[in-house]
Amino acid sequence: MTPGSAAARSYLVRQQTLFGDQLLLGEAADSAIEPDTKVDGSQVEELAAFNREIRECQECPLGATRTKFVFGVGNPAADLVLVGEAPGRQEDLQGEPFVGQAGKLLDKMLAAIGLSRQQVYILNVLKCRPPENRDPRPAEVDQCQPYLNRQLSIIRPRLIVALGRVAARTLLKIDESLKNMRGRIFNYEGIELMVTYHPAALLRNSGFKPNAWVDFQAIRDRYRELAGLPPVEGPRAAGN
Ligand code: URA
Repeated sequence: MTPGSAAARSYLVRQQTLFGDQLLLGEAADSAIEPDTKVDGSQVEELAAFNREIRECQECPLGATRTKFVFGVGNPAADLVLVGEAPGRQEDLQGEPFVGQAGKLLDKMLAAIGLSRQQVYILNVLKCRPPENRDPRPAEVDQCQPYLNRQLSIIRPRLIVALGRVAARTLLKIDESLKNMRGRIFNYEGIELMVTYHPAALLRNSGFKPNAWVDFQAIRDRYRELAGLPPVEGPRAAGN
């Protein structure tokens, strides 16, 4: 087997593990992987300064129950930002978003479209864990949202991906079903925004994975277009 076909094979195995048997893939992993996006020093500093400013936050009761404040992780000059809901147990302990089971799946999904955590930026609507992972309360979202808005205004990505309804609703101020929001391009403060499943929903119901793969291919294609990268060739997955 040539090195290229070995890479292609391992890519397909990875895709199948992730998304099941309904895939039709044409591209090899190495063709999809891009070098790290260039980091802009002023964004690094501005984001770090903002982290220092808010990391002791006690503006809502979650400040008293958290272990660690979970600011966000990744490339401060990223073209793609992914927005989750709130830290879970592992995130609360480690101070980093998406490091538990849902995070491991998110990493695989990113890898499937040729991206790593270091290239994108990952953050949550809430910076502190709601006890027992309960849903964020509207007052907590209202309190925390200015932090998210400020982070996005510093990073200024080309594309935002809302992972699940809480993130989508918070950013878009609309109350639609995930089904209605998938497959569309929204606008958040002049930045394109796409909506897909929260990885935890995919862990609970693997039947959503083929649709998630359709979404991730669309995210990859739009991201590459916006970033001026060549399109990835090959047949698209079947999906709905
Ligand atoms: N779920 C989220 O929405 N965010 C995390 O950081 C972890 C799990």
